[in-house]
Amino acid sequence: MYKIAVIPGDGVGPEVVNEGIKVLDALVEPYSMDFDFTYYPNGAEHYLKTGETLSREQLDEMEEMSAIYFGAIGDPRVKPGILEKGVLLRIRSHFDQYVNLRPIISFPGLICPLRDKTFEDVQFYVVRENTEDFYVGLGARTDKKKDEHKLRFKKYNIKFDIEIELDDEKEIAYQIGLISREGAERIIRYAFELAKKKNRKKVTSIDKANVMSDIYGLWREVFDEIASEKENSGISTERQFVDNAAMQFVKDPKQYEVIVVPNMFGDILTDLGASIQGSIGIASGGNINPDGISMFEPIHGSAPDIAGKGIANPLGAILAAGMMLEELNECKASNAIQRAIKNVLFEGKVRTPDLGGRASTGGMGDAIIKELMKDDEDRDI
Ligand code: NAI
Ligand code: MG
Repeated sequence: MYKIAVIPGDGVGPEVVNEGIKVLDALVEPYSMDFDFTYYPNGAEHYLKTGETLSREQLDEMEEMSAIYFGAIGDPRVKPGILEKGVLLRIRSHFDQYVNLRPIISFPGLICPLRDKTFEDVQFYVVRENTEDFYVGLGARTDKKKDEHKLRFKKYNIKFDIEIELDDEKEIAYQIGLISREGAERIIRYAFELAKKKNRKKVTSIDKANVMSDIYGLWREVFDEIASEKENSGISTERQFVDNAAMQFVKDPKQYEVIVVPNMFGDILTDLGASIQGSIGIASGGNINPDGISMFEPIHGSAPDIAGKGIANPLGAILAAGMMLEELNECKASNAIQRAIKNVLFEGKVRTPDLGGRASTGGMGDAIIKELMKDDEDRDI
């Protein structure tokens, strides 16, 4: 029995999460699992009504759950950042979900936007550090000639006292990036372990140590140390600068097996990854605390432009449900989802508009369930 917190959120979030839940429910009997879903109303509507993004009590309640299943958040009626920070980033940091795992894995029959490349060229994992770097919230703007800023970073008990003296009419803003040895170590170790688990032979580290040599110099040093450990001797390694990596994603994605990357560059590269996968609608991600409570979500947002039309692609949400099952050690059920999606896409009859078809969100979900019910080669019973 798994207790799952479900946060459908805004826009297409509830539409695609609904399909994911349908798929999970369909797996209950064949894979002898059980789910107890607790729904949370958090999102724009809830915020506009109550002024609350996410409460302490809700977080406490989630401490008792096996995992969190998340749709998408964001609404044109709410100032950008409030819900994203108040709900999504809050959960990630509260549960210390320091791994952002993003399969950049395409499927047969999907048209890869890279001419001359096929789905077989796009089969890698991005492991993005999810708690540090330029996203720690240390920064300020100033428009006074003389200013003093006190910035605090509680986690490591760091205080920055910044004194500013500017010429007339000048205005500046700054953001401080922070990487800890501990933070780099745990994510890089995760990437090497993932490579072993997924039977991959190479880990590529991406940074910008040539320009930001302090912050990414430390990252690189830790990467080299872990790469040279005896237990990782079977895995080859490469280091790339992020600008080159952006080019390589498009030019030669096949070179990648597992990528490990700091937070900000990871954010950008995983969107690029989603697009070479075939559609943002099929991309899924995990916010993982390997020793704690993890959260799984499609990587797209609330897509207000198509919300309510019943045409959003639910495959990203369904694959996220599959990642959740894998983290819960239900590997057979998780593989069955992968296989069903592969078969349905390859057959090509049922596709949502983003993949060039005419199927509805629900029609796509139903097709996956129908395929799952056929598939019994790999079951426990
Ligand atoms: P978006 O991901 O919502 O949409 C980008 C484009 O992809 C749109 O053209 C949309 O129609 C399309 N798309 C997205 N999901 C799709 C699906 N399942 N099937 C077919 N097409 C799909 O990103 P956008 O427009 O930049 O942001 C909209 C809102 O979502 C904003 O409030 C933003 O802050 C929020 N957001 C939330 C995220 C989350 O909850 N994890 C992630 C990204 C954005
Ligand atoms: Mg993003």
